Amino acid sequence: MKQWNVLLHGGDYNPGQWLDCPDILREDVRLMKLAGWNAVSVGIFDWERLEPEEGRYDFDWLAEIIDNLYAEGIYTVLATPSGARPGWMAEKYPEVLRVQADGRRILFSGRHNHCLTSPVYREKVRLINRALAERFGRHPAVILWHISNEYGGDCHCELCQAAYRAWLQKKYGTLEALNHAHWSAFWSHSYSSWEQISSPMTSIGETYHHMNVIDWKRFTTDQTVSFMQAEKDALREFSPDVPVTTNLMSFYDGLNYGKFRDVCDVISWDNYPTWHNGDETLPASTAMAHDWMRSLKPDQPFLMMESSPSATNWQSVCKLRRPGMHMLSSMQAVAHGSDSVQYFQWRKGRGGAEKFHGAVVDHDCSAEHRVFREVAEVGERLQSLSALAGSVFPSRAAVIHDVENRWALGEIQALHNTKHQKGYMEDILSAYRPFFREGVNVDVVDEEADFTRYKLVVAPMLYMLRAGIAEKLARFVENGGVLVGTYWTGVVDESDLCFLGGTPGQGLDGVFGLRQTEIDALYPDDKNTVRILPDAGLHGFAPEYASGDLCQLVETTTARTLAVYGSDFYAGTPALTVNSFGNGRAYYVAARMPQSFYDDFLGMLCRELGLKNLDAALPKDVTVSMRRDEKTGREFLFVQNFSDAPAEIALPGGLTDAETGEPSTGTLCLPGYGLRILLREPC
Ligand code: GLA
Ligand code: ZN
Repeated sequence: MKQWNVLLHGGDYNPGQWLDCPDILREDVRLMKLAGWNAVSVGIFDWERLEPEEGRYDFDWLAEIIDNLYAEGIYTVLATPSGARPGWMAEKYPEVLRVQADGRRILFSGRHNHCLTSPVYREKVRLINRALAERFGRHPAVILWHISNEYGGDCHCELCQAAYRAWLQKKYGTLEALNHAHWSAFWSHSYSSWEQISSPMTSIGETYHHMNVIDWKRFTTDQTVSFMQAEKDALREFSPDVPVTTNLMSFYDGLNYGKFRDVCDVISWDNYPTWHNGDETLPASTAMAHDWMRSLKPDQPFLMMESSPSATNWQSVCKLRRPGMHMLSSMQAVAHGSDSVQYFQWRKGRGGAEKFHGAVVDHDCSAEHRVFREVAEVGERLQSLSALAGSVFPSRAAVIHDVENRWALGEIQALHNTKHQKGYMEDILSAYRPFFREGVNVDVVDEEADFTRYKLVVAPMLYMLRAGIAEKLARFVENGGVLVGTYWTGVVDESDLCFLGGTPGQGLDGVFGLRQTEIDALYPDDKNTVRILPDAGLHGFAPEYASGDLCQLVETTTARTLAVYGSDFYAGTPALTVNSFGNGRAYYVAARMPQSFYDDFLGMLCRELGLKNLDAALPKDVTVSMRRDEKTGREFLFVQNFSDAPAEIALPGGLTDAETGEPSTGTLCLPGYGLRILLREPC
């Protein structure tokens, strides 16, 4: 596969909107050089210009753009145009347009509005992709295919319904197996023919069978992956060695991104944090999104395909990035393993929905703009850091975030129905934040991950256990790993069918050394406490923590109790336990705990297991991420200050400044939003 040995700096470029303004197009090239751009993403929404009439392609204008940029040393990330289709196609072949969950076909409007199944659409995409590959697939400028744009959504048309039935038939084989997995005897919903099955469309208001919703999401994921695979196949004949990617959307709920691992040669994603919104968790949640995306392919860098250089026009408050934040936000991506800083968008359009979206070039068309200058600074810095390209982000800890588990939690009626997906994502973030705080590299993985790479795995609320997962976790602990589980673990199998005979199911009860009995959900004003037992050996912990929300009641078998509930009818029963299992141990957190508990508890485990990237105490809002060059063993430590106030860190010895080459000793002083990259040579 083609490779590039620099960090990419660039983004979405829409020359198609300016074809009648040659001056602007010429000026773009000049300004891009000034901004330190070395890669543009082009053609994303250009189908109507690439195929103005059915079967008549016009690629000359695009060739001219690509050539002109390449002459100035700027690479092209070339898109396939399937993200939006031309009017002639929608008019002639209405089946290419999506049908919503209420059964209505969407008119020719907007983008991302295509049926995933339509043979016509798939064929039109195949033809244009193949033609684009034939023309540009071996062009030296083209380093990457950007397939479609932000795949998402679903389609409920008859073609998709038929494909869904075929998918179910392939999965279950018989109606009997399907009826069992969907527990369809409930409410007299058993299917006696495949034709009776439909997607979960808008109903009379009652909750659908959960498994129909979950299987529909699985189907939509598979259909999207197969759509992308078909797009990729169409490119391969003429472009065998240009890698492909598609821009993902981190925690987007509609697709299981875990399934995109193989079809993507490179993972890329679009990052739009709402900086300066007063949410103290934002730096960590943004880091977590990078880690989730990177962990889809943990042994290679990813790309930050889009980010806004300034305000993002669709956010509820379009706040500007304060001076310094653009550099910090961009370098945060690099710190977490991105080999690029790319933007949406190069230049603000004159009209349309995104004319006020942050861009490198504003309507003033000037390089003197503050945003332009800050972008150019990032460009300069990335160029001097090209030694980082290809380096990895090695993690010895993981937090499990499983999309199917999230879907299942979203469907069930239980616990706290006021909380979206039962508070699962909040739990993931609570578990993630201590790693951010301690400066520990961590992967965010799903149940399918290879746990043998890690020393510590934290698995909040692992409600759904697909086949083989418990066994994998048991082996991980047996071989010396440390596992942290929480309430509501191992309750159902992959068909959302409850395990009978006690939980956590599939043998995880033995790993944790306990049985879950009942789970109590508390109203917002209800409180309980979790009291650390004096002989628990948990030093530096508070004597007790306020808990609430969810309190799992358990009975231990072999586990040792480290903390107990402070009140209510289950006062004195276990709230935190540890169980030795093989060479490892499994902790169980029974109650939904405050952040301070997770900070103390997981912070302790990070220190004990030697996971910190830098042996130093970190002030609040300062974190350290590490990338390693596998060839030389050199480690790059990114010390990032997300506070607007200066911060000081007492450094251990043996470090140099990666950018100046000067030794870094004593106290490192970082300004507000400051960042320093330190180099650690292999011992
Ligand atoms: C998404 C899309 C882009 C653009 C940006 C705006 O990420 O992929 O085309 O609309 O949002 O933030
Ligand atoms: Zn459809």
